[in-house]
Amino acid sequence: MHPMTSSNLHNAYGGESMAHMRYIIWAEAAEKEGFPNVGRLFQAVSRAELVHATNHFHELKNETGDALCASGGIFGLGPTSQNLQGGIDGETFEINEMYPAYLEVARFQGEKGAEKSFFYALSAEKTHAELYTKAKKAVDSTKKDLVSGPVHICPICGWTHEGELPEKCPVCGAKKSVFQTFA
Ligand SMILES: [Fe+2]
Ligand SMILES: [Fe+2]
Repeated sequence: MHPMTSSNLHNAYGGESMAHMRYIIWAEAAEKEGFPNVGRLFQAVSRAELVHATNHFHELKNETGDALCASGGIFGLGPTSQNLQGGIDGETFEINEMYPAYLEVARFQGEKGAEKSFFYALSAEKTHAELYTKAKKAVDSTKKDLVSGPVHICPICGWTHEGELPEKCPVCGAKKSVFQTFA
């Protein structure tokens, strides 16, 4: 594998791994603060980040041994509104900066597997930013929990959706029946 795509996969794996953990921590904080639906959203999105980390890890299956994973991690454990802003900031960076650049490099280098893994993550992060923005608005304006139906996760690409599911994942084409639901 080209070293730059390999490095980008390592960094993305690191970033997704940290996001996965951070969202579980923020989910527990939201539940304690009296926002169970925001907590459920954080849990669902955490699962989607696990899907991304897993996809990146699979692409690195032939690269054994120790490697540096250089990734920004967002810190802070505050009120849920602040934690949601942290979520929005992290997702926005991935959408606007990180994944478009990684995707272009993988494409340029002909690294098909990495290209797909980055495309899946980029597409899913957009849904995360939207869901966190909606949740933050609800928490800030009503001081009450988000009103939310079940949140569904595509286990192939991490696409995340609240409400009625389409027959197929709009990003990867996975069937509705394989989705994981957080209700
Ligand atoms: Fe995300
Ligand atoms: Fe999908």
